[in-house]
Amino acid sequence: MKLPERVTVYEVGPRDGLQNEARSVPTSDKIAFIHALEDTGLRYIEITSFVSPQWIPQLADNAEVARGVRRKEGVTLSALVPNRRGLDGAIAAGMKEIAVFLSASETHNKKNINKTIAETLTAFGDVVPPAIAAGMKVRAYVSTVFGCPYEGDVDPKASVWLTKELRAMGVYQVSISDTIGVANPFQVEQVLEQVLAEAPVESVAVHFHDTQGTALANCVAALQLGVTTIDAAVGGLGGCPYAPGASGNLATDDLVAMLHSMGIQTGIDLDKLVEASRLAAAFVGHDLPSKYLKAHLGKQARARRRAERGA
Ligand code: HMG
Ligand code: MG
Repeated sequence: MKLPERVTVYEVGPRDGLQNEARSVPTSDKIAFIHALEDTGLRYIEITSFVSPQWIPQLADNAEVARGVRRKEGVTLSALVPNRRGLDGAIAAGMKEIAVFLSASETHNKKNINKTIAETLTAFGDVVPPAIAAGMKVRAYVSTVFGCPYEGDVDPKASVWLTKELRAMGVYQVSISDTIGVANPFQVEQVLEQVLAEAPVESVAVHFHDTQGTALANCVAALQLGVTTIDAAVGGLGGCPYAPGASGNLATDDLVAMLHSMGIQTGIDLDKLVEASRLAAAFVGHDLPSKYLKAHLGKQARARRRAERGA
């Protein structure tokens, strides 16, 4: 198996995770969570989104979060931005990196951002060049690459075309996203081979949701093609409110545990990551799906019981 020596993990828990939580999370908890993530060794953290609060009320405190978080040397904080209004908010709140997003399928795009794909690309003309002119770096997500909750199969050609369009606008990295978690490793290889024929590997990331338990296997397929940036959400928080059936993101804890056990470096301290997951589980008020987290907590509980019996 040919695998990279090092992988960059792009943490999306504070945005993709919290946008889908039923319980409203106080701003101070979000900020403490982001600080805990900054202390793990993660170098990229998506902290919020500057979208409409009518559409995503969970992240309505975007400006407070972005203004309130510490800027740690070596850590890039990013925010999701759908349009010019969102860009203005992100600039005012001191963001240095943003991510734009659109879907490879028309129906999901319309449900998620109320525009056709063509209208969205036109609207990005008001976002990407001005953001770059303001000194920001711009990333992008292409959603529903591997399947759409409304249309089913999606032609990989749409993702190849969108990746080219976004890069031509100045986007530095496109995250190829399995919004509803239906991809399998074979399909990941097929789609990525086509995308990578048109875009350099360092400009391509992957973003898997783990609805059917295939996210880690999909990562291995992407790694074998040389992809070295993987999005994940600590604890497996997450989902897209405009994608019925989408469950949590690939759990950062599971990803990092697997990569480290394969000898692939991430620069992330797994114990600190687990602490960040525990923090998130406490403020969202439910267990998180990360398997590594569950195993780790089980091991700790067994050790505690043994110590109590021995005492
Ligand atoms: P719209 O209703 O068509 O917007 O929504 P509009 O331009 O007609 O404006 C309507 C009102 O919203 C106006 O206010 C605007 O000012 C306001 P009014 O004048 O009526 O008082 N508005 C805003 N307010 C705050 N911030 C803004 C903003 N823009 C307009 N940026 C819009 C269009 C794009 C705004 C809306 O559809 C939206 O916010 N959608 C976001 C949906 C979303 O965040 N989905 C989840 C993230 S995507 C995801 O999770 C997938 C990903 O993880 C990858 C994957 O897994 O596939 C990235
Ligand atoms: Mg997502």
